[in-house]
Amino acid sequence: MDYENILTEIRDSILYLTINRPKQLNALNKAVFTELENVFTELAPKDEVKSILITGSGEKAFAAGADIKEFADFSVEEGKELSANGQRIFKIIETFKKPVIAAVNGFALGGGLELAMACHIRLASDNARFGQPEVSLGVTPGYAGTQRLTQLIGKGKATELLMTGAMIKAEEALKFGLVNYVMPQEELITKTEELLKTIMKQSPVAVAGVIQCVDAYFTDGVDGFKTEVEEFGKCFGTEDFREGTDAFMNKRKANFPGK
Ligand code: CAA
Repeated sequence: MDYENILTEIRDSILYLTINRPKQLNALNKAVFTELENVFTELAPKDEVKSILITGSGEKAFAAGADIKEFADFSVEEGKELSANGQRIFKIIETFKKPVIAAVNGFALGGGLELAMACHIRLASDNARFGQPEVSLGVTPGYAGTQRLTQLIGKGKATELLMTGAMIKAEEALKFGLVNYVMPQEELITKTEELLKTIMKQSPVAVAGVIQCVDAYFTDGVDGFKTEVEEFGKCFGTEDFREGTDAFMNKRKANFPGK
C-alpha cells in the first residue's frame, strides 16, 4: 500500500511512523486510520522491525484530534461506526507485540491524545499540549480517551480534564504520569530512540510477554495474575531464556534470538 498521510522509514530496526498532515495539524482522518491499520498489519510485523516510534510531522502537532471537518455532518450510526473503528485500530497498537512509543512533538488533542495513549510509552517535547477537548464540540471522546486517560492518570484528574476539555502543558502531563519524560523538541527523537534501543537489547519474547501481562490488567474478564503465570512459564521454553540465563552465568552480554 502507498501511504499518502503517513511517512514510514525503517532504520536500525526502528519503524518510524510519522502522521503527515502538518497543514491540518496531523488531524486523523479516515485515510490516516486506514494507513495506520495497514502499517500495523503489514509493515510493523516484519522481522526487520523490532520497535515502532510514532510522531507527528512538523514542529507544532503530534495530532490535533480526529478530523472535525470529516465528521461534522455524521449521523448517530456513522458516529458509532467512527468510534468503533478508531477503538479497534488503537487496540491493535496497544496490544502490538513489539514496543510502540509515542514521541509527542506538539498538540496531542482528542484523537491525537488517544493515539498517544494507545502506545505503550509516551515521551514529550516541552512545547507539547495535551487534552480531550471533545466536550467543546458537543461530543464525548470516541477513541477510548475516557478509558485510557482514566487508566493512566486516575479517575479524579481524568474526569476533570474530560469534563473541562482543558489543555495541559507537557510538564503537567509529566506530573500526572501521562508522559514519562519531557525534553526540548530537538532532543525528543534521540531520547525516544535511546529508550527504544534499551528495550530492544532485552528479550523480545519477554518484552512481548510484558505487553500482554500489562494489557491483561486492563482487560475485562482476564485475570492478569494468571496471564503472568502463563507468560512466565512460556518463557522457560524459549531460546531467549536459554540465551539470557547462559549469558548471565558466563558473565557476557545476551544476544537474544527473539524466539
Ligand atoms: N480536525 C480538522 N482540522 C483541524 C483539526 C482537527 N481536529 N485541528 C486543526 N485543524 C486544522 C484547522 O482547521 C486549520 O485548518 P485551515 O488552515 O484550513 O483553517 C489548521 O489545522 C491549523 O489549525 P489552527 O489554525 O486552528 O491552528 P491554531 O494554532 O490557531 O490552533 C489548535 C491550534 C488549538 C490545536 C486548534 O487547531 C484546535 O483547537 N484544533 C481542534 C482540536 C480538537 O478539538 N480536537 C478534538 C477533535 S474531536 C476528536 O478527536 C473526537 C474523538 O475523540 C474521536
